[in-house]
Amino acid sequence: MIIDGKALSKEVRANLKKEVETLNESGKSVGLAVILVGEDPASQVYVRNKINACEELGIKSFAYRFPAEVSEEELIATVTELNARDDVDGILCQLPLPKHLNEKKILELIDTKKDVDGFSAEQVGLLGLGTPDLVPCTPLGVIELIKSTGTKIEGKNAVIIGRSNIVGKPMFNLLLKENATVTVCHSRTQNLPEVCARADILVAAIGKPKFVTADFVKEGAIVIDVGINRVDGKLVGDVDFEAVKDKCSFITPVPGGVGPMTITMLMKNTINAAKRG
Ligand code: GUN
Repeated sequence: MIIDGKALSKEVRANLKKEVETLNESGKSVGLAVILVGEDPASQVYVRNKINACEELGIKSFAYRFPAEVSEEELIATVTELNARDDVDGILCQLPLPKHLNEKKILELIDTKKDVDGFSAEQVGLLGLGTPDLVPCTPLGVIELIKSTGTKIEGKNAVIIGRSNIVGKPMFNLLLKENATVTVCHSRTQNLPEVCARADILVAAIGKPKFVTADFVKEGAIVIDVGINRVDGKLVGDVDFEAVKDKCSFITPVPGGVGPMTITMLMKNTINAAKRG
């Protein structure tokens, strides 16, 4: 069965919209600032989708677009100003930043309480301690997608392919929090297909088109495809969908699986940041 990320996203967004309305009625607006540097086409699409989602839910969005050659000082001044603003609950700096900018420095400058990407050392640490506050949006969305199948996560073997700070590592902590037995695989993992074939829940976040083939997948597994690869102008996941779909119980498509939920979780984080103040 195909997990419809768009449909789930629509359902979750309807509830989030009500939360925003309730906050507005009590005199609290919800605001998200989005910083985009340069002309990267994929980043432009992501930022546009994030701003559209804000509009849909009644969240105020503040877009800051800078040319690729913007100075680090100017970005620092912008983040500092946004940190101090009461009408900005969340601040997001779209990655990647151009090479001349110190990404770590900019991200660490964002007030932890407004860090709706969950990338700051404090948010990463809270998740690692099992007391999450703002959690990276993609892995948060993956948990909701798995839960939407009605499958219990507790006690299951979960295997993640990829150990990035944005997906693999927070995914590990979230699945562990759900009481799964979690394995994180990466480029140096030996016997990768064998390890993956033990998974009841397989999360692919490698960044290689159609990398996961049928021999990686246990009969009846849930397969979550986080990959967004552009091949000949088409979006292709990390999973060879056609080869795998009849072997697993549930699978997310690309596009229309994880992507819509990522943005929805960004909205959720922003609302949570607004509620907590
Ligand atoms: N670039 C790719 N994914 C992400 C993300 O989740 N957040 C931000 N800020 N930039 C990204």
